[in-house]
Amino acid sequence: MTDRIRVEHLYKVFSDMPKAALQRLAAGATKEQVQAETGQVVGLNNVSLSVPAGAIYMIMGLSGSGKSTLARCINRLIEPTAGRILLDGDDVVAADAAHLRDIRRTRVSMVFQHFALMPHRTVFENVEFGLKLRGISARERRKKAEEILSVVGLARWGHHLPSALSGGMRQRVGLARALATDADVLIMDEAFSALDPLIRTEMQDELLRLQRTLHKTILFITHDFQEALKLGTRIAIMADGAVVREGTPQEIVTAPGSDYVAAFTREVDRSRLFDARSVMVDAAPIVVRADGTADRAGPGRAGRSFVVDDAGRLIGTIAEADLPRLQQGISARTLAAAGCATVPGHARLADIAGACSTGQPVAVIDDGGRLLGCVEPAQILARIAAPAATAPHS
Ligand SMILES: Nc1ncnc2c1ncn2[C@@H]1O[C@H](COP(=O)(O)OP(=O)(O)OP(=O)(O)O)[C@@H](O)[C@H]1O
Ligand SMILES: [Mg+2]
Repeated sequence: MTDRIRVEHLYKVFSDMPKAALQRLAAGATKEQVQAETGQVVGLNNVSLSVPAGAIYMIMGLSGSGKSTLARCINRLIEPTAGRILLDGDDVVAADAAHLRDIRRTRVSMVFQHFALMPHRTVFENVEFGLKLRGISARERRKKAEEILSVVGLARWGHHLPSALSGGMRQRVGLARALATDADVLIMDEAFSALDPLIRTEMQDELLRLQRTLHKTILFITHDFQEALKLGTRIAIMADGAVVREGTPQEIVTAPGSDYVAAFTREVDRSRLFDARSVMVDAAPIVVRADGTADRAGPGRAGRSFVVDDAGRLIGTIAEADLPRLQQGISARTLAAAGCATVPGHARLADIAGACSTGQPVAVIDDGGRLLGCVEPAQILARIAAPAATAPHS
């Protein structure tokens, strides 16, 4: 996958004379040390990351950790002090004023926490504003704005003022405005944080739904770890201006790497984070060929062997006790006819626990019915259990 955004050794020191602070940071000083020694505030301390095209990339961290500073450096609403930012390989930090204007109008759009809508303009005018700046004709703007408003479920609200809308609806307008520009990159800074919990969940689902067809590259800032897990393709966790952990939601929960990150992961419902694939083991199936002969791959599980056809599609299971009958000429297909419990590879553990409660191994299959592996209750329990915070009593 190509990287849409690359951030390389990015620093931000809020000062007109950042040199001494930069030198201290480069030598390994922390934000706190630099502030104590120079009185200068460090916004970003040597941040490097890559955002793959089409990802929802989450920047997560406590208040003051540098999330907004990072987001704003990317389209230079804040000037970085040192480092590089590449947008499709194009150096944003080196861009002149005209190039920068072009980036902001056509390539990167922002959605803010408090919507930042123009209160005296209609929903429609708010959405088409960016297009107007680009000199697009009234007719085309109208067409585009109408199309986008219906995408975000506000088709009938174009002629109302923002004040007539609820918070959730206003944020949809903010999103519509960002989408109308056709920019490939969306930066959403705490875009859902001001919403009521129910509306917030709804907006998260909406964003995931939209992203399935839009395939934007989204940099999403949040201080909510649950939101990061739910939306994120990858997550970068920040503390004191630096990225302290980066990875997929599953990687971060499995191996937080520090107490700071572990503290976020403690409350996570692992049964909804991990899927069947993540816990399955090799099913070592018996493969039945087209001519009816069968090959045994390995030992069975819990007294049964899985049986697949030569395309890997699951036929069923055979009890170990019946295996000798294979040699007696009874076909594996006949012996496996009883079938067995199956779950899709992408099913969450919470949703397969029932199927796995019989004690029998359960087959994990892909969308084409091919056997991927099998799961047993013990593997599910091991995955769901949070690592103990301290060593258990001996
Ligand atoms: N204009 C500024 N001048 C001086 N310091 C600033 C400025 N903007 C941000 N900072 C400092 O930079 C650091 C990072 O701030 P930033 O706003 O990026 O944090 P954040 O992670 O977005 O926090 P929040 O979750 O509260 O929005 C903080 O220490 C903050 O005080
Ligand atoms: Mg912020």
